[in-house]
Parts: sequence; structure tokens; C-alpha cells
Amino acid sequence: MGLRILSTGISLPKTAVSNDRLATMMNTSDQWISSRTGIKYRHIASGDENLTSLSIAAAGTAIERAAIRVSDIDMIICSTMCGDYVFPSLACCVAEALGVTCPAFDLNAACSGFIYALDIADKFISTGRSKHILIVCAEMMSRLCDWTDRSTCVLFGDGAAACVVGEGNAIKYINLTSDGHTHLLYQQVGSGNSPFRPQKEPGFLVMAGQDVFKFAVSKVGQQTELALQALNLTPDDIDLYILHQANKRIIDSARARLEQPEEKFPTNIDRYGNTSSVTIPLLLDELLEAGSIKKGTKLLLSAFGAGMTTGTCVMIWE
Ligand code: COA
Repeated sequence: MGLRILSTGISLPKTAVSNDRLATMMNTSDQWISSRTGIKYRHIASGDENLTSLSIAAAGTAIERAAIRVSDIDMIICSTMCGDYVFPSLACCVAEALGVTCPAFDLNAACSGFIYALDIADKFISTGRSKHILIVCAEMMSRLCDWTDRSTCVLFGDGAAACVVGEGNAIKYINLTSDGHTHLLYQQVGSGNSPFRPQKEPGFLVMAGQDVFKFAVSKVGQQTELALQALNLTPDDIDLYILHQANKRIIDSARARLEQPEEKFPTNIDRYGNTSSVTIPLLLDELLEAGSIKKGTKLLLSAFGAGMTTGTCVMIWE
């Protein structure tokens, strides 16, 4: 016995920022951003919106839809690259707001975080240690980006997506990797205020865009093929490919390699940009709400992110 996803919920900052609006702030254009990435809008936090508030809203919807009591949650895993505090973890902030006392911790596998969280949750449920686990992916990329660097800041967005998982047998395959190319995509912290070493200010997100693009195209393809081979499936056997929403061209290249029709590769990158580990559960939530995923739907989830990490999962919806 492993897990199944009982429910999902999402929460986005109220401000949606268009490419045209960004073009009033920096030397860019809707034409460049849309043609290179497929992105039209991204949500950016403002006012008192923070990761804890977004996480609680997404978690609240997921818990309500799962029709469980808050006290039934026996573990909280948050996937985030940077919570509201260095410590305590975002997961502990969520636990406090929900009023639950259970193990709660953050994990950082960058954009692959949701699949890493699913794998950990699967292991806790399959060993009987947990019955209901709340997974929350929450990212505030707008805090991490250098808003004077047009080659990166236009790509990302903020948001949160949650799911409640319980006992089931939905996961048929899951594989996690990390390749140690840490220089392709990173953000350095400062040196702190130690009197014993030189002061260094924290940095902003740095990305070697074309190298990340090449990594993604080759790795997503390779990992997808490995998953299909392991289950003795062909690309046609998968109903929906839920890929990390980083760039529409990366998704299109995976689709071309597998020779699959466009409708099997749903996207929402046009509305949200790259929300890191949030993209996959955000898309899952939209597809569930639209009725596109039903009992028996065969899904292949695939993500890649800083590290460089990847996560690939095949599940049959229960
Ligand atoms: N608006 C207008 N022009 C821009 C721009 C912007 N926002 N950002 C960069 N440019 C310019 C560059 O300065 C460059 O100009 P030049 O030719 O005069 O030097 C030109 O556009 C091409 O830049 P380049 O970096 O070669 O573009 P690209 O086609 O590789 O696209 C990315 C850039 C970032 C969209 C693409 O590399 C990418 O998507 N990489 C993967 C990123 C990713 O997936 N990250 C998430 C990992 S989880």
C-alpha cells in the first residue's frame, strides 16, 4: 500500500502582471517573452501576502476537499526554496496556523520538489507511519529574482498549491535524480554578520539559461523514456503528461520526442509563468477542477530544477 492524492487546493497572489506591464519597467516586450517562453502573465505577491498566507489558503481548500479533519493530518511537508523565515520551517508555520501538532518540515529540491515530496510521503504511508500527509508547495520567486536582470525575472511567478495524500496505490513509478550542476542555476546567501569573515551581501537568482534549457530537454526526455521502459509502456499509453511549466518550448520538445498530440501536454505557463515546485500541483488542481483527470487516468509527471534535480512519476488516478 502506498498513496493516492485525495485532494488539491491552490492559492495565488491577487496581482497578475502582464508582459506589457513588465515592458513598462524594463527593456523587454510581450513579443520576446511570449515567443521565447509561452508566458503571458505571472502572479506577484504584494502587500501583506507571504508564503505562510498563500500556503494556508491552499492547504485549507485541499483539507476541505479531502473531507478530513485537520487533526487527521499526521505530517506536513512543504516544498519551498525559501520560506518566510530561515527557521522555523514554512511547514511549522503552516502547522501552527492550522493548529496541528505533527512532524512538519521543508524540503528544497527546487522545481522538482513536488515529486520529491510525493516520494517521501509515499514511503511514510507505505510503512504505516502516516495516514494523511499534507504536501504544500509554495514559492515566492519574486523575492529571489534580480528585477534588473530581464533574462531571468520575466520567467518566474509566485504561488502555492497543496494536496492531501492518503492510503492508496496510485504511484506506479517514481524516480528522483540530482546531477550536481550547481552552477547552472543558483542563489547565494550572504556571509551573515560574523566578525571573523568579510561581509558579503546575499545575491539574487543567477541562471545559465541556455545550459538549463539543454539540460531540461535532454533530461526530461531521457527520464520519461526510462519511466515508460520500466513499466513496459509506450508513450501512447499515457493519458496526460504533466510537465514542469518552465518554458513552453521545453514542453513542446518533449512532446515532439514522444510523438504525442498537443492535448496530452496541458499547460498553464501562459497565466502563471514558472512557479518552481508549484507548477505541477497547480496544473493538477486545474485539470481536476476541469474534470480532465478521472479515476483510471494515467499520468506522467516530470520536473527538473536547480541542482540540477529531476523527478519523474507515473500514477494511475484513484
Ligand atoms: N526581453 C528582451 N530581450 C531579452 C530578454 C528579455 N526579457 N532576456 C534576454 N534578452 C535578449 C538577450 O540579451 C539576448 O540579446 P543579444 O542577442 O543581443 O545578446 C537575446 O535576448 C537572446 O538571449 P538568449 O539568452 O540567447 O535567449 P534564449 O533564446 O536562450 O532564451 C531563456 C532565454 C531564458 C528563455 C531560455 O534560455 C530558457 O528558457 N532557458 C531555460 C530556463 C528554465 O527553464 N529555467 C527554469 C529552470 S527550473
